[in-house]
Amino acid sequence: KMSVSIFILPVAGFLGGLQEKAMNLSVSPVDLWTERNGTVGPGDQCTCEAFLPGSTFPMGELVQLEQTAVQISHKLELEIVKVEMFESKLTIYMEKVVNLTVLIKIMEDDPDSYSELYIQEVKIQIKQVEALILELQASIQTSYTVLITIHKEVTHIHELSVHCQFHKVKNSPHRSPPLLFCTLFFSCTGSCNHGGISRLSKPIISQLNANLNAGYMYGGWGKDSKPLPGSENMYWYSASTDTSVRYVSVYTDYYSLIMRQAKKTYDLYATNRDWRGTGNNYVIRNNTLYYQFANPFSMAKYNMTSQTAEYRVVPKASKRFSYHYSANQNLDFAADENGLWVTYATEESKGKLVLGKIDEVAFALKEVWQTSVFKPSVGNTFMVCGVLYATRSVDIHTDEIFYMYNTRTRKENYVSIPFKKFQENYVYLDYNPTDQKLYMFNRGYYVSYHVWFNQNNQTNKPQLLI
Ligand SMILES: *[C@@H]1O[C@H](CO)[C@@H](O)[C@H](O)[C@H]1NC(C)=O
Ligand SMILES: *[C@@H]1O[C@H](CO)[C@@H](O)[C@H](O)[C@H]1NC(C)=O
Ligand SMILES: *[C@@H]1O[C@H](CO)[C@@H](O)[C@H](O)[C@H]1NC(C)=O
Ligand SMILES: *[C@@H]1O[C@H](CO)[C@@H](O)[C@H](O)[C@H]1NC(C)=O
Ligand SMILES: *[C@@H]1O[C@H](CO)[C@@H](O)[C@H](O)[C@H]1NC(C)=O
Ligand SMILES: *[C@@H]1O[C@H](CO)[C@@H](O)[C@H](O)[C@H]1NC(C)=O
Repeated sequence: KMSVSIFILPVAGFLGGLQEKAMNLSVSPVDLWTERNGTVGPGDQCTCEAFLPGSTFPMGELVQLEQTAVQISHKLELEIVKVEMFESKLTIYMEKVVNLTVLIKIMEDDPDSYSELYIQEVKIQIKQVEALILELQASIQTSYTVLITIHKEVTHIHELSVHCQFHKVKNSPHRSPPLLFCTLFFSCTGSCNHGGISRLSKPIISQLNANLNAGYMYGGWGKDSKPLPGSENMYWYSASTDTSVRYVSVYTDYYSLIMRQAKKTYDLYATNRDWRGTGNNYVIRNNTLYYQFANPFSMAKYNMTSQTAEYRVVPKASKRFSYHYSANQNLDFAADENGLWVTYATEESKGKLVLGKIDEVAFALKEVWQTSVFKPSVGNTFMVCGVLYATRSVDIHTDEIFYMYNTRTRKENYVSIPFKKFQENYVYLDYNPTDQKLYMFNRGYYVSYHVWFNQNNQTNKPQLLI
């Protein structure tokens, strides 16, 4: 007869959380734990007598844990099959690209038979497919490794429970599942349970802008960072041939963005009012455009429901310091999991970046942080989970995130997270917390990046992922 002390791993909280999201596969729960006297069954399987002080031991949770483990195993099995399918599809894509390249070669050898425009169009298509393939490959490779790890871990948990080798009862705080797991299987976005950005994906080039003109070098695009219900799929776009801001278009979804079928275009200028902006560093949040007002120099918000604007002067903000790639970028708006932000520089700070948190309801700065980074050396900035990230140019193909400022700890850090650019200059770069992507307006092109985060490893063992 053996006494078994049981532990509900830190994983229990994790699994408990997962269970709410896990697919309801019709798997009959396996009854692995029953309270009965210890016997040794066939093989090395044992049945144990568990001394369970009813008040402390969460039997229900353990049973749930087992059911969940079984469900996850099945789900993972399905995922692994999917990944294998992806891989074979990719091979076909690759072949297509090779064929396209051959086609291009033929076209170039006989340029008279095809217009330059057509050739350009095909080239862009190839670039897109290439970017997609590389991205898919990277994600498949990662997800495949992760899946195998999870699979092993789950199998391990399963065996642990079968062999009664649980350790000590422990009331673990519920914690949310690791982000990578989230993004792979569920769309539980908005979690900040990670250790900051680890890398960016290759640039994903969606399209030449809706003006069909790379001369529209100044602009931005993206999604509402806090969409009104029903507008979750909405995209927006604004561009101009100079640094002024006048028109903003919204699109029902990605498809209409790509088809250039705007749902509505807002005009900030009319004969009786001039709400135009400048600098192209706006964001849309809660169906409201936050941007730099041209005259007077101030921060403005344009409510796209009521189609009215209001502005507030930002104390001490200077018009003298812009980012490296473009003029008039004095107020840069950003939105993240924690809310709305604006970065600028002041005379007092001698051009060093100042970061302000905006109270959306009062439309006023509620706190400011002084950084030590000189704004004119910065390509652009964005916020993720209350951390400011600044970029700078490395060469014509590469930029890097070189600076971080954490508003919670008030600590700054110099880092090097390089990323590729599609074209040399970009005037718009912002993060969107709803899909954890970076949106860039790169000389007239819509470009985006997936953001990869460092997994938090100060959490309890056993580590489920990576
Ligand atoms: C899961 O499926 C079972 C059997 O079809 C059903 O009784 C149960 O309500 C479902 N649970 C959820 C959360 O959908
Ligand atoms: C377990 O053992 C105790 C004492 O040896 C006995 O009274 C009880 O009936 C047993 N229970 C089962 C389920 O076999
Ligand atoms: C690529 O071209 C080869 C030779 O012309 C052809 O056999 C193959 O089917 C093509 N592949 C695709 C994916 O179009
Ligand atoms: C967001 O928009 C809704 C509906 O327009 C409004 O009621 C709410 O006050 C807004 N929230 C903020 C923080 O501005
Ligand atoms: C925008 O205007 C609408 C209609 O007047 C109003 O209901 C809403 O609260 C406004 N949104 C914000 C964020 O102020
Ligand atoms: C993560 O773990 C490694 C090795 O165990 C350790 O050196 C590092 O400091 C940890 N990082 C954090 C953020 O806890």
